[in-house]
Amino acid sequence: MEHKYKVLLIGSGGREHALADVISKSISLESLKVFPGNGGFASELLLGADEISISDKTKFLEYLNVSKTNLVVVGPEDPLVNGIADWCAEVGIPCFGPSAYCAQVEGSKHFAKEMMKRAKVPTASFAVFTDHESAWSYAQKEMLPLVVKADGLAAGKGVTVAFELKEVKRALDEIFLESKFGQSGNKVVIESFLEGEEASLFVITDGDRYMCLPAAQDHKRAYDGDIGPNTGGMGAYAPAPIVTDTVLSKVKKQIIEPMLDDFRRSGHPYKGLLYVGLMITKDGDPNVVEFNCRFGDPETQCVLRLLDEDILPLFYAAATGNLPERNLKLKSGSSAVVVLAAKGYPDAPEKGMVLEIPANEGNVVVYHAGTKKDNASLVASGGRILGITSFGNTLKDAIQDCYAFLMKVKAPNTYYRKDIGRRAL
Ligand code: AMP
Ligand code: GLY
Repeated sequence: MEHKYKVLLIGSGGREHALADVISKSISLESLKVFPGNGGFASELLLGADEISISDKTKFLEYLNVSKTNLVVVGPEDPLVNGIADWCAEVGIPCFGPSAYCAQVEGSKHFAKEMMKRAKVPTASFAVFTDHESAWSYAQKEMLPLVVKADGLAAGKGVTVAFELKEVKRALDEIFLESKFGQSGNKVVIESFLEGEEASLFVITDGDRYMCLPAAQDHKRAYDGDIGPNTGGMGAYAPAPIVTDTVLSKVKKQIIEPMLDDFRRSGHPYKGLLYVGLMITKDGDPNVVEFNCRFGDPETQCVLRLLDEDILPLFYAAATGNLPERNLKLKSGSSAVVVLAAKGYPDAPEKGMVLEIPANEGNVVVYHAGTKKDNASLVASGGRILGITSFGNTLKDAIQDCYAFLMKVKAPNTYYRKDIGRRAL
């Protein structure tokens, strides 16, 4: 008999809403539960804090036991860095997501850089410091621009690309003197600046074999023309034309394979999703900007729309070390996601706005992020509120669909970028 999955999905963003969408459509699904979810999920899918915890190991394992969950899929990085996959391993329940050891690839910039150095993976040169004085004295002797990174998780806010020394100083002050990033600020990585075009590549792996999803391009700055503060991501499209077959084969040989080998050699095979953040030079050479231990948000919302197969058995296969040796089945065409964010995002997003969202139509699928149900209404509860996705024969079609749909969304005190995907059109 074919395996049927009782899935627990962890997370509350647009990424998890998109993951839940593909998981729900799987013919291999027996049941799906989500914690904590958001206002876009049917309430019967959601678990409450009285039923489960992801910070209390005993309560978490008790839920897995009682519910007979046989596959855990983890969206965000925090629980992975805190060892949720290891908890699952202790009780023999497959988890799509890496162990705490492997999640350090995102949880510690220093860990990631040392590993890249050892595995000879192309990336920016770097130095590591644990005090303000030596970091500052090093920076003053280096060529600008420099990139200053708080070592640990900083919710996407720990990186400063500094074109002037005073920006380096400000970043070091924030990290060491003002403790802006708490524990993450005990250490700093200072990197040289990489030039080129960025792309995000998602790799599903069982530690040995791997499959790549189509590369996506994210738009990290808040406003049109790539200006304004850095955000979690304001929109994305896939496939990214910058990642040609030649670039992809370099990424596999120079980055993915050496990293997976190094994890294996360390006795900790990487299982789950490895997010490779790339900077591709004008000559088509890939460098690593960062690794994440999870799917990207909002890239996932568009990338998953290009799938032409049931991904759930592949999550299970990756979690159990049985990934098939083949490429993923993908649709031809392009997909896009445009993020609707609250006014004030990313610094001080407004909340509580009442939202009116028409039903999905044509190729458009809306994924919720910062929304919650409030009696009969749906209200904004976070910085990134919705991701409007579409799929089309061309990127232009997909993007036009997203913007046409946004005209019909009623969401006061919100904004979105008008230039998603423009570079690829
Ligand atoms: P990270 O959190 O490491 O992805 O950094 C956030 C953003 O900072 C990246 O998406 C890049 O746009 C930029 N960045 C990080 N490291 C570098 C680098 N070495 N050179 C140029 N830009 C970088
Ligand atoms: N969109 C960037 C990230 O998920 O880290």
